[in-house]
Amino acid sequence: MKAIVVEHRGDLGSLREFPQPSFASHEILVRVTAAGVNPMDWKVRDRGDRALPFVLGQDFAGVVSAAGDRVSKFRVGERVFGIARNHGAYAEYTVVPEDDHVQPVAKIPDDVGDADAAALPTAGLTALAAMNALAIAKGTTLLVLGATGGVGSFAVQMARDRGAFVIGTARDSNEILAHDLGVEEFVAYNRDNVNEKVGAAHPDGIDALLDLVDDAPGMNQVAELVRDGGRAASTIGSADVDWFAQRNIVAVNLAMPRTPESSQTGLRNLVELIEQGRLRVLISSERPLADGANALAESKAGTIDGKLVLTVR
Ligand SMILES: NC(=O)c1ccc[n+]([C@@H]2O[C@H](COP(=O)([O-])OP(=O)(O)OC[C@H]3O[C@@H](n4cnc5c(N)ncnc54)[C@H](OP(=O)(O)O)[C@@H]3O)[C@@H](O)[C@H]2O)c1
Repeated sequence: MKAIVVEHRGDLGSLREFPQPSFASHEILVRVTAAGVNPMDWKVRDRGDRALPFVLGQDFAGVVSAAGDRVSKFRVGERVFGIARNHGAYAEYTVVPEDDHVQPVAKIPDDVGDADAAALPTAGLTALAAMNALAIAKGTTLLVLGATGGVGSFAVQMARDRGAFVIGTARDSNEILAHDLGVEEFVAYNRDNVNEKVGAAHPDGIDALLDLVDDAPGMNQVAELVRDGGRAASTIGSADVDWFAQRNIVAVNLAMPRTPESSQTGLRNLVELIEQGRLRVLISSERPLADGANALAESKAGTIDGKLVLTVR
């Protein structure tokens, strides 16, 4: 099969022939139709601790091509989407277990397209986990740092859907996009001082902070905006939980694969939100599989709005 393969340390990944993965009795073989691009994909590549060679990517949409003899939840020909951490997603075929929290898979409803489904798993489940970890509900004031990226574009919509008031940051050229997604108060991180602007508008502090971009010192600085008794979450391990606890703020470092949302139920929740018109997928562009390495360069440069998707066939 064709796949974007990393063969040696420092290899950025390129289109090569690669053996089609074999599947065990509890696994399904999926013919991939689309693969979603995530920062995790280049982070895994650049970390350099995976056994070589390996196929890049993890989020996929496709069609069940074969199923192990103990598989009961999926049939050949069904459209499915999910996260393939072991066998990768930038490939014509991948393999996932039928029931696994770290590599969840679910059916795609007829009215959801392949590109949308491929864009959903990692960013959508992370946004869903953040909503629950931050107890986002009607009336919550939430600040999302990185509001127009993959996770942010879903988190803003989910928070609005739950009745929260959403403040969002992005670069100034993304202001209209941020408002389109549901940001009510926009702050351009490259133009405004986030602390000054949000602090002036919310002198009693905000209820919740979702930080998708800052390192630990940066997150501590913006934490000044969170009220006593508030909540904070980082997706990049920047929350110094003890430091926050001393300020009576419950902070969490979200590791999506270890959250309850990383499951078949979590994936079903995401497509239900789409079907009900309560969530839409912002796709910046769709590219052929052969463009995999270029797509990762764009993701690493931080220039993608919403999600980028590779079309496999
Ligand atoms: N722990 C987990 O389980 C988990 C799960 C998913 C993601 N993550 C991590 O979470 C992070 C976000 O993921 P993602 O998929 O949303 O990434 P993404 O699609 O690359 O989006 C990041 C966004 O951040 C914005 N940005 C960059 N610098 C900023 C700043 N100083 N202030 C505000 N916004 C800024 C960019 O928007 P502009 O274009 O406006 O600059 C970009 O759209 C990544 O590091 C990812 O690896 C972790």
